[in-house]
Amino acid sequence: MDYLPVYLNLKESNVLLVGGGKVGTRKARLILRSGANLTVLAPEITSELQDLLKQAGGTWITDSYNEPSLSSTTIPALIVAATPDRSVNEKVSADAKIKGIPVNVVDSPDLCTFIFPSIVDRSPLIVAISSSGRSPVLARLLRRKIEAMVPAAYGTLADFAGRMRTLVKQRIPQETARRLFWEQAVEGTIGELVMAGREKKAQVQLQHQLENQSEQPCGEVYLIGAGPGDPDLMTFKAVRLLQSADVVLHDRLVSDVIVDMARRDAQRIYVGKARADHAVPQRKINQLLVDLALQGKRVVRLKGGDPFIFGRGGEEIELLAKHNIPFQVVPGITAASGAACYSGIPLTHRDYAQSVRFVTGHLKDGSVDHDWSQFQNTTETLVFYMGLAGLPLICEQLQSHGRSPDTPIALVERGTLVEQRVLTGTLGTMAAVVEREKPTAPTLIIVGDVVRLHASLSWFGEP
Ligand SMILES: C[S@@+](CC[C@H](N)C(=O)[O-])C[C@H]1O[C@@H](n2cnc3c(N)ncnc32)[C@H](O)[C@@H]1O
Repeated sequence: MDYLPVYLNLKESNVLLVGGGKVGTRKARLILRSGANLTVLAPEITSELQDLLKQAGGTWITDSYNEPSLSSTTIPALIVAATPDRSVNEKVSADAKIKGIPVNVVDSPDLCTFIFPSIVDRSPLIVAISSSGRSPVLARLLRRKIEAMVPAAYGTLADFAGRMRTLVKQRIPQETARRLFWEQAVEGTIGELVMAGREKKAQVQLQHQLENQSEQPCGEVYLIGAGPGDPDLMTFKAVRLLQSADVVLHDRLVSDVIVDMARRDAQRIYVGKARADHAVPQRKINQLLVDLALQGKRVVRLKGGDPFIFGRGGEEIELLAKHNIPFQVVPGITAASGAACYSGIPLTHRDYAQSVRFVTGHLKDGSVDHDWSQFQNTTETLVFYMGLAGLPLICEQLQSHGRSPDTPIALVERGTLVEQRVLTGTLGTMAAVVEREKPTAPTLIIVGDVVRLHASLSWFGEP
């Protein structure tokens, strides 16, 4: 190991920064975040650094570096040299070393007694990464990966754990048992409650678990929107919670790639739900979620798109709420957003559409049950979900209620997936296009002048 990683408490300590250019400004911002008293020594500094010093009460000495700078009243706890002049940087480094003051010279590891790591800041939780000065780029790349892995709310969780530490230590004096308790709490419902901003509830749950340690704790249900198909469109939160699940209930619209993001040992339950494939009736799904959670399991209900848009998500959590089972709802990218973006059809556009309406095209007793007169606004984009079977009727009704037969319409088949296909036409011609091309579900229908933009803005899946 070339360097010993340590975390310095610099609150109220003096830090000297020599040089105030762009790099110096970056270092200053970091140093000030640690609560240090910063003095900048440089004939000129950036206006950004001037602002930073003003806000944080730091000092700027408008002078060049000379050795007496270090002999003046207060000896700094750290020195950082960031001047463009190598000889000045060498002098700072040599003087600091003589006085035993830790020194960092930007981009010159040979002149440093300490180096700055790349950091992931979830204060009070801080991850530091260093390549020991060999490859800062590699360290930064690694940092990016860790940034994506560590939830933004981990800092809040660390704060919460810090506040509960004494209480847990009093109740569970044995170290191993205490570690197990914390692992379960942080990784389980309590951790999720804290990260969802529900600290009071988390505290009640923690106290309950401390008092009833032999009792099986209640599980939790996560209703997760898996997006329209492309697995990269899952949110960080969706992936994190999916990977924590003991059981995953998924339906037809969620691809295997996404279901496979769950832990290998997680139980998978297919609950179907194509138009003619009600593998498990809705009522049974609702009950299953309750039963599994009561067994203490972390249950993920994966749904295509967004759970609250034509997803019956509301019904599934109603029963959970009735049984007082903790749950979270994670939004997903709905098919309209996904299919529109991936087919180059902006749903709103200053020149074409000022509003957008999501409509169900699901046939009820052979007809699409709408007051069709409400769809006459030509500056509003209409998006029909579940409209493939009803497409001829949708086109016909829109025309008979005032829309021009020339109104552009697109049908996006398997939007956002590599097999995506976009068929375009007009209200007058689209039924024939669909009859000829025979697209298969899932498909989304977009009606309105914005569809014209597909010809020039299409970018995905084109050879
Ligand atoms: C029961 S709804 C679920 C909608 C979902 N909750 C959402 O927010 O996207 C199913 C309909 O969503 C649309 N859909 C879902 N995924 C799609 C995709 N990848 N491409 C096109 N349409 C899709 C289709 O209209 C399909 O019939």
